[in-house]
Amino acid sequence: MGISLLVIAYLIGSVTFILGLKMLSHPDTARRGNLIAAAGMIIAIIGTIFLYEKDGARLGNYAWIFGGLVIGSIIGTLAAKKVQMTAMPEMVSLFNGMGGACAALISMVEYDHLRHEGFIVNGGPVPAGTLIAIVMGLIIGTVSFAGSVIAWGKLNGKIKDFVFKGQHMLNMLLLLLMIGVAAHIVYWGAESSALMFYLLFVMAVVYGVMFVFPIGGADMPVVISLLNSFTGVAAASGGFLYNNPVMLTGGILVGAAGTLLTILMCKAMNRSLQNVLIGSFGASAQATPGIAAKSGGAYKEISLSDAAMVMSYANRVMIVPGYGLAVAQAQHTCHELEKLLESKGVEVLYAIHPVAGRMPGHMNVLLAEADVSYDKLQEMEQANEEFKTTDVVLILGANDVVNPAAKTDPASPIYGMPILEVEEAKTVIVNKRSMKPGYAGIENQLFYKPKTSMLFGDAKKALQDLIAEIKNV
Ligand code: TAP
Repeated sequence: MGISLLVIAYLIGSVTFILGLKMLSHPDTARRGNLIAAAGMIIAIIGTIFLYEKDGARLGNYAWIFGGLVIGSIIGTLAAKKVQMTAMPEMVSLFNGMGGACAALISMVEYDHLRHEGFIVNGGPVPAGTLIAIVMGLIIGTVSFAGSVIAWGKLNGKIKDFVFKGQHMLNMLLLLLMIGVAAHIVYWGAESSALMFYLLFVMAVVYGVMFVFPIGGADMPVVISLLNSFTGVAAASGGFLYNNPVMLTGGILVGAAGTLLTILMCKAMNRSLQNVLIGSFGASAQATPGIAAKSGGAYKEISLSDAAMVMSYANRVMIVPGYGLAVAQAQHTCHELEKLLESKGVEVLYAIHPVAGRMPGHMNVLLAEADVSYDKLQEMEQANEEFKTTDVVLILGANDVVNPAAKTDPASPIYGMPILEVEEAKTVIVNKRSMKPGYAGIENQLFYKPKTSMLFGDAKKALQDLIAEIKNV
């Protein structure tokens, strides 16, 4: 009876994960999808705690289990409530690292368990499959943990890029060595020393750190997505080890989703994964922004009243949101401007670049938070068509995603990245606080073009002032 109920709980868990993931693909259903998958996870956890039986015994250890659950839930809830939208990638990275650490701990506990049993399972020698799952969980989980912690540190500026000559070669060697030690453990089983296992753990920590260290700051979201897929594979190894279908499904889904997201992000930046991992894009520019940001000539400013005038009499205004909009938390004010312009008969649309901001879907989430209708968001290809018939483009805290160097300057680190072709519109107004570069640390010639005017100031303040002016037009 217990087992069949548990199977049902696991089935519900697996189905909700798949359903939740599908619903996450659209902003209208994403919140509900997240809740559904979380509910499925709770059912799977509660089912395991109370229904799982081995040799006629239940799990027990309830004080430890619920103690951990309560502490983890409190920390997770507080962290998620407190985090600023712009710091979300850091938090995702840290949480992902915890998943990797869990998978590695499972491998350690199970290896220790096997040693105590003399590597005997069900009266026979331990199957190679079990040992493979253990070492895979250890390596991938540890790399994901160590790499995620470094990614977290790099994103919040606590850890700087660290590159030395021959680093990638050393990483390759370390990887080969790890595979060798892992093969030794699996092949020799009981005869292999426990020392080898812990040596493998130490090597995986070093590899995780060294793997992420040289990758440029602007590429961190891609790396986090990749590490996320690693954690999924490590968790799936745990599912294989325990013969637990819901852990296996969850792990495979995370692994597959993380891999797809990584590929999509690379595509959006028109770069290969190999180039991201060894190309160190953004690293040098980040380290020396002053050098990269040499002056590009004369630019012109626009007054608030002139900006208000051109926007009020436009047929169509397209807003290009970027990282600066998120920093200024100006999404609500932006929505206010949109409604005001529409009340004056102006059509307002938003052009969304796939890597605007600092994480996938950053702008979509930000604008959804301010109740901007999803129908108004134009993806890049669509937006690039619309610009041709647009009177005014208003850029709010975006920089790299509208930088023409991506198309015209083969020496630029963002060369090849598809951009929002705002120059196609009649007039371009750029709001930012200064002439400083964006995340890639490079200058933007768009700001010096005859069509472009700068509207300096914090995005929220500038929008508030613009709204006040438009009301007077
Ligand atoms: P950025 O190129 O980073 O430019 C943001 C601009 O916002 C800055 O130039 C800054 O100029 C301005 N700004 C900052 N605070 C502001 C405020 N309070 N008010 C007004 N403006 C403000 O942003 P983007 O165009 O969105 O591009 C995103 C970058 O991240 C790209 O390089 C992209 O490749 C990288 N990236 C993103 C992702 C994902 S998935 N989103 C993944 C990998 C890489 P001032 O300092 O002069 O104000």
